[in-house]
Amino acid sequence: MNRVFAIIAVSLSFASLCFTQTNVINIIPKPMNLMSKVGSFTMSRQTTIVARTARDRRSAVELNSWLRANHGFTLKVTGRPQNKNYIEFASPTQALDHGSGFTGVGYGMFVSPNHIRIEGYERGHLYAIQSFVQLLPLEFKEWAEIPAGSIVDSPRFPYRGMHLDVARHFQPVEFIKKFIDLMSQYKFNYFHWHLTDDQGWRIEIKKYPRLTEVGSKRPETHLGAYTTTFKGDGIPVEGFYTQEQVKDVVAYAKARYIAVVPEIEMPGHASAALAAYPEFGCKENYNYKVQMTWGIFPEVFCPTDATFKFLEDVLDETIKLFPDSPYIHIGGDEVLKIHWKESAFVQELMKREKLKDEHEVQSYFIRRMERFVNSRGKKIIGWDEILEGGVAPNATIMSWRGNKGAIEAAKSKHDVIMTPTDYSYFDYRQGIDAAKEPVGQSAFLPLEKVYSFDPMPKELNETEAKYILGGQGNVWIEYMKTPAAVEYMVFPRMLAMAEVLWSQPENKDYADFRRRLASHLVRLDKQDVKYHNPEPIGQ
Ligand code: ACM
Repeated sequence: MNRVFAIIAVSLSFASLCFTQTNVINIIPKPMNLMSKVGSFTMSRQTTIVARTARDRRSAVELNSWLRANHGFTLKVTGRPQNKNYIEFASPTQALDHGSGFTGVGYGMFVSPNHIRIEGYERGHLYAIQSFVQLLPLEFKEWAEIPAGSIVDSPRFPYRGMHLDVARHFQPVEFIKKFIDLMSQYKFNYFHWHLTDDQGWRIEIKKYPRLTEVGSKRPETHLGAYTTTFKGDGIPVEGFYTQEQVKDVVAYAKARYIAVVPEIEMPGHASAALAAYPEFGCKENYNYKVQMTWGIFPEVFCPTDATFKFLEDVLDETIKLFPDSPYIHIGGDEVLKIHWKESAFVQELMKREKLKDEHEVQSYFIRRMERFVNSRGKKIIGWDEILEGGVAPNATIMSWRGNKGAIEAAKSKHDVIMTPTDYSYFDYRQGIDAAKEPVGQSAFLPLEKVYSFDPMPKELNETEAKYILGGQGNVWIEYMKTPAAVEYMVFPRMLAMAEVLWSQPENKDYADFRRRLASHLVRLDKQDVKYHNPEPIGQ
């Protein structure tokens, strides 16, 4: 064999080894930098975890609790240096957050046959653990091989969210925790909890008990797909979260570095609240009720001082329950202005405050609530309708009706979270054949389209682009009564959204995502997640 040929032969066999190794790395979302090496680290029950600082020990506890829950054993933790077969948690020795523009979230994981070194701060360590567990085989008893290589990783966006509507159909706390746990596995960091709407009020407010006594209950729901004539299913719906349950959920999420953002809808989507306290609506002798069907309703909070006092009390209790969220979402979408137009009080208010139309009444409403929320040290998020009539000065905009609101908001120096219907509404059908899918919205949003989403509008320059904080998958559950029904709509699209929000666009490749996804579907099976089985690529 001549020398050149020998070098080529050796390189080829090295390349094929590398390829084999790369093949078994199925991490979702795709890490920023991933380099495979030859060989592997063998983790067994004899492997030691090295953790020197309190922070590193917390990460060791985190890894051990995962191993105990999933494989029935834990590893010994020591502060002393080891020679071989150890997993070491440590602070960063290099910049790990490059590209992301924020600190403490990046991680490095360096796997050699002798040891694994996991670098980062606490949050970075958690993300490293999530990647680490995806490198392990799903089932093992005595030992597992982890492919050698290095990962240096940090997210593209600081806001990586999932939303869940629990107003249309109450969902039990155990499911909320399962949802949060799955979010954490895919490195999401915000859970937007849509707690109130026309069809139900789902959070206990001690000062106003009727919100849940009355507002959390409806006698029945429209049967099947939406039609203008109501046909009831005869099945009562009720349920709400006590403040103790909310605290429990918030703590559960916090342990997974997920902030829970509560949404209390105003001034529209207020039927359930007004069924409980009709005095905060604009109409006297009006039959306010918890709605039993879907759509947009004229029932709206009236902008009186008494209503603002009520809403401030509600938000005061709410804010105390969500200490880790920088945001309170106040809704602001789909407000029909009919009751305001017909109200002598509102017309008088418009004259007094020089508001030229009802859009400006909405703006007045939101600005007033923003002042209150800001005075409590929090920021508001509102749906993009809050841009109409003049945006509240510090508001973050959740852009759902395409990109238009996002572009306008970013150009006027407002933070933006991207949730355009075309890419991030997981109540839209994901299976090709509508006849085989559950009753629901007619719009179609396949997995590949979610994956193709780029949250960064092309129209923004570099300075404006900084206002795009990230994005979110939205799960409106008019047509999802049970956790299984929610899971069917959310998965696996949530995994595509995870990669959209975490991974660098140049690292995205749908065919490669689908290859990696196959192993994640098995992981979801193990967790009893009732996902939609995606159709083969190209169908
Ligand atoms: C929305 O979908 N109404 C925000």
